[in-house]
Amino acid sequence: MRRLATGLALALAAAPLSAQAQAQLRAAGEGAVVTVEADQPGAQVHPDVFGQFMEHLGTGIYGGVWVGEDSPIPNDGGYRTDVLQALKDINVPMVRWPGGCFADEYHWRDGIGPREDRPVKINTNWGGVNEDNSFGTHEFMGFAQRLGARTYVSVNLGSGTPAEASQWVEYMTAPAGTTALARERAANGHEDAWTVDYLGIGNELWGCGGNMRAEYAADLTNRFVTFTKPGTGEMLKIASGPSDSNYEWTETMMKISGKLIDGLALHFYTRPRDATWEDKGPALGFPESEWASTLDHTMEMDEFITRHSAIMDKYDPEQRVMLAVDEWGTWYDPAPGTNPGFLQQQNSLRDAMVAALNINIFTKHAERVKMAAIAQMVNVLQAMLLTDGPRMVKTPTYHVFDMYEPWQGATALPVDVTAPMYEKDDVSIPAVNVSAVRGTDGQVHLALVNIDPNNAHPVTIALDGVNPAGATGRILTARAMDAHNDFENPEVVTPTAFTGARVSRGTVTATLPAKSIVVLQLR
Ligand code: AHR
Repeated sequence: MRRLATGLALALAAAPLSAQAQAQLRAAGEGAVVTVEADQPGAQVHPDVFGQFMEHLGTGIYGGVWVGEDSPIPNDGGYRTDVLQALKDINVPMVRWPGGCFADEYHWRDGIGPREDRPVKINTNWGGVNEDNSFGTHEFMGFAQRLGARTYVSVNLGSGTPAEASQWVEYMTAPAGTTALARERAANGHEDAWTVDYLGIGNELWGCGGNMRAEYAADLTNRFVTFTKPGTGEMLKIASGPSDSNYEWTETMMKISGKLIDGLALHFYTRPRDATWEDKGPALGFPESEWASTLDHTMEMDEFITRHSAIMDKYDPEQRVMLAVDEWGTWYDPAPGTNPGFLQQQNSLRDAMVAALNINIFTKHAERVKMAAIAQMVNVLQAMLLTDGPRMVKTPTYHVFDMYEPWQGATALPVDVTAPMYEKDDVSIPAVNVSAVRGTDGQVHLALVNIDPNNAHPVTIALDGVNPAGATGRILTARAMDAHNDFENPEVVTPTAFTGARVSRGTVTATLPAKSIVVLQLR
């Protein structure tokens, strides 16, 4: 008898299959069976779930985004035009800056005024290199404005003061001409207030942000929240939250700060080998066992969100406080020959799978996860884009963000999956993973991920409440598990048209090739 996962790894509670789905399952033979309740009202997948994180780290900003006006690399006011265009093309909705660990050592006054007068410091967190502060508040805001993205600024709680944080907020948001700081902003070239959509109240306060106990961190959070008031616009305050399964941190933060904050951050990095941080496993050239362990580990995100949300529900039953997964993605051993402090790594089809699985998980938890930021946008960890001097390449992860664009602002639809298991060594996970949304275009969109690197899987999707005439789609796949794009071969992993979906009487059938991501639009 074949092994099946029912009710799914992806369901909060295993729901019994409908009679229709059971009939489909019998008809589907060895395949996966999916039911989508397309007529159900659901939570909005907030566009900011597709947010990006940019930190002063390696070439994530300097070289990757910012080259300065005098650079021979084509730029718009100092920002690389190739990078800007690529990010605009995937509609980046929100950007988080300046860190990360960097945020709790950052003093905002170092990054304003004439660039030649800004102090050079050492980036003690990341590679011990010089930080010349040429990318500061005005440069970040100019970047976000060019992208049309919302802004997420993290203030320095770890080594700064509430006064410093409050003055930075005033500098950014006080209406034109109203205060001395607003006039200083104007003197530095920007008359009007900016909107700070999210304010991060420190970062990883249990670690690089100050190695605090949760009680102390929560008290400090309350102090900083009290004194950071926007001059204009709504500014949501995001507290430094837990990493992975640190449920005690969530309990304490929600108990002490839950009434004052608008969001709690969750950080979770996926590593192929997660026993130690010293040996995470390579980004390329890995065995199938590390394909399997990576995808198995990344699916822990579902359990982490479920359990942190359950704690939050105790203190915030109305779900006013969001869980903001503002650092997520893969973290491998540094690319050979690079500065280990720069966290540079290649990005393969495996990363695309990680991205798709996490977006499916965020879709499932759309009522609580209202914002997220993949780490990081360019050249660092699970990046969208890699650059080398004037060259730029789009990673497989970039293409996943592109394919999932209809999820931004869409309505999450309840999904039930019964799938054969993918098994490798001690890993056993459902081979097919699915999310479904009703897009802002009114259409139903399906994301179907076949995790199994060796076998195609037929899938039968029963749709409740819609009867589409057809489906169009795109597929991302490649021959090798570690297939990737580089400067010489930039299109090894790139989406192509998927024409294999058949639609008949409210049912979609397709065969998902091994290790593939298929996104369908029903019409
Ligand atoms: O993204 C790299 C680092 O990972 C961030 O600076 C920190 O917040 C986390 O530990």
